[in-house]
Amino acid sequence: MRTNFLCFSCNVLCGLRMTRRVFAISDLHVDHPENLKWVENWSESYENDILIVAGDVTDSLPLLKSTLLMLKKKFDTVFYVPGNHELWVRKESQRASANTGSMDSIKKFNEIITMCEVIDVYTKPKRMTTGEGQDIIIVPLYSWYSTPEEDLDDSLYHCGPEPEDKEKMNKMWMDNHFCIWPKLDTSRSKYFAKLNEEHIKQYDVPVISFSHFLPRIDLVLPTKEEDEAVVKERQLLSLPEMKLQRQGAFPGFNFTRFAGCKVLETQIRQLGSKVHVHGHQHRNRDRIVNNVRYVSHCLGYRMEREKGLMWGLCEWKGPKQVWPLS
Ligand SMILES: [Fe+2]
Ligand SMILES: [Fe+2]
Repeated sequence: MRTNFLCFSCNVLCGLRMTRRVFAISDLHVDHPENLKWVENWSESYENDILIVAGDVTDSLPLLKSTLLMLKKKFDTVFYVPGNHELWVRKESQRASANTGSMDSIKKFNEIITMCEVIDVYTKPKRMTTGEGQDIIIVPLYSWYSTPEEDLDDSLYHCGPEPEDKEKMNKMWMDNHFCIWPKLDTSRSKYFAKLNEEHIKQYDVPVISFSHFLPRIDLVLPTKEEDEAVVKERQLLSLPEMKLQRQGAFPGFNFTRFAGCKVLETQIRQLGSKVHVHGHQHRNRDRIVNNVRYVSHCLGYRMEREKGLMWGLCEWKGPKQVWPLS
């Protein structure tokens, strides 16, 4: 249930909410025109609020910049981390640069972080006043997934009941075609986790952390309540009942190979996060595990939305409020 507060400071109705809310969204994939339109059409007033964007906006740098600037016009403050799509190096010009060694996925990541600094989109922790007398700190966590071959101990890989064709799955996974990695002296997951290390500590105010990738294997499968939320979303979309098992997962494809990494969960626990927002899976989540509320509110692709798989979008019609906790 959404609640609006009005600020009556100085006995004047100034129209600003006393409470600064925090909203979250991920996987905007604005290369799809209908997705961009959806974001442009958010009609609620968020001018005093904070937005967390948990990756997968687009792989196009100009479009990423213009989208973040648009979001900055709608919100007081925008936080963001790149997802896997942002690190694709797939435009002809970029791939030509990659051949000369002047562009790769890590260089593109650094370019994105620099661009965010220039336009005042936060990719590093920042303490925020909520207007309720209690500050919070929002901590972006950079991340990548660990495949079982790369780092089995860190991977969220779970061997399912269906036989797997590893070669076929690797071919289907577009990161394997579009990401270009320089030689790293550690796994990709540990490389990005190391960048977070200087910010990993206990804070004296509530922590909201966020990453693009999943921090826990149990978030891959829905709870009963999340399954019911899909049923409700489909009812709201006037869709017929759907068999809930697998929720539209692609047969023979094991997403856990590319889902996330355990080092993220370690960092979340070290931070003592109250809320952790993630994206990437295109299946929305909202549950509490050992005192942390994990929220995933993805826009995803039209085909997924039309099936009602992105539950919560009919209710929120935009980003989802994650603070204050309801
Ligand atoms: Fe995505
Ligand atoms: Fe993703």
